[in-house]
Amino acid sequence: IWTVEKDVDNLAESHHIQEAAERLIQNEVVAFPTETVYGLGGNAQSDKAIDRIFQAKGRPSDNPLIVHIAKRDDVKRYVEKTNELGEKLINAFWPGPLTLVFRHNGRLSTKVTAGLDTVGIRMPDHPVALAVIEASGLPIAAPSANTSGRPSPTTAVHVQEDLRGKIAGIVDGGATGVGLESTVVDCTGEEPMILRPGGITKEQLEAVVGKVAVDPSLAEEKEAPRSPGMKYTHYAPKAEMTLVDGSDRFFQEQIDEANRKGLNVGILVPVEKSETFSGMRRKEICGTESDISTVARELYGALRSFDSGEAVDVIFARTVGEAALGQAVMNRLRKAAGNRVLTENELQK
Ligand code: TXA
Ligand code: MG
Repeated sequence: IWTVEKDVDNLAESHHIQEAAERLIQNEVVAFPTETVYGLGGNAQSDKAIDRIFQAKGRPSDNPLIVHIAKRDDVKRYVEKTNELGEKLINAFWPGPLTLVFRHNGRLSTKVTAGLDTVGIRMPDHPVALAVIEASGLPIAAPSANTSGRPSPTTAVHVQEDLRGKIAGIVDGGATGVGLESTVVDCTGEEPMILRPGGITKEQLEAVVGKVAVDPSLAEEKEAPRSPGMKYTHYAPKAEMTLVDGSDRFFQEQIDEANRKGLNVGILVPVEKSETFSGMRRKEICGTESDISTVARELYGALRSFDSGEAVDVIFARTVGEAALGQAVMNRLRKAAGNRVLTENELQK
């Protein structure tokens, strides 16, 4: 672990940054913080480095990686051409939690793009990420730095839990900010399309480019997702999780019912509901309902925490409203719950 202070002026001169960059140049893989989650970085032009990323994560090789750059203009080095739509989004949101999909020009490892003719690129908004990328002088492919399927890491300790001994090092720049991954937007068609909801909301995108489509598979299970990564179960704690959409009484009934079956119950609730329920073995508090960004920031840490300490058999989690960042939060919650949602019907309320 290389610890760095993210707010110092001369970050680029830190030997920890230099050492991490050195390892990247040698085609080794290194984890570092971004504003969304920790990434596991490797040289996007090296098949060997990319193999190491897939191996460390145990990631299916048909799932392409996002390429990270330190300057907006560097996007032109790897894509056939940008377009007006792409330029507008870049100017409005880079650096930031937005990944843009363009047709690539063949200058990256084909393993990064998993053989697709497109590539997802973003410029992260984190001084440590930018310093590492800049010092390496390379395009850096970086998926989230977790074991494939587990919740993404928002601290260096989470990365260690999953990848200790499997990677060259971790640059520890403290906890990440947004807490959920970047929004992935396909810019290759007539109309921009959200392939994965994330840190930049649909409303924010539409304020800049007008109507934005959403990959239909995000709403309906039947369709195959256009973003390969969206088809896998993800972010799930070991205990079976179910989302509960309804009143406090309905939520309490789920706990009571599970107890009657002899199951140990865990609950995941916002701070407003921290004293509302009884009969559970574990309670993880995740953010405050009145500020969805705090729920996003704390979600992965809360999901991870169920996997250590006292084991539970089932977890009940409260749903959140789908406005703004709520869309990304609900997308991750549904995946973590394998799409199990209990909805209270109007008569019960
Ligand atoms: O915030 C983030 O995006 C983090 C940080 C580290 O930057 N990275 C991240 O990477 O979440 P990963 O690999 O965990 O997720 C990448 C997602 C996957 O769902 C993948 O299928 C999709 O982006 N993706 C990558 N390239 C794509 C492409 N060319 N077309 C469609 N989807 C793509
Ligand atoms: Mg991931």
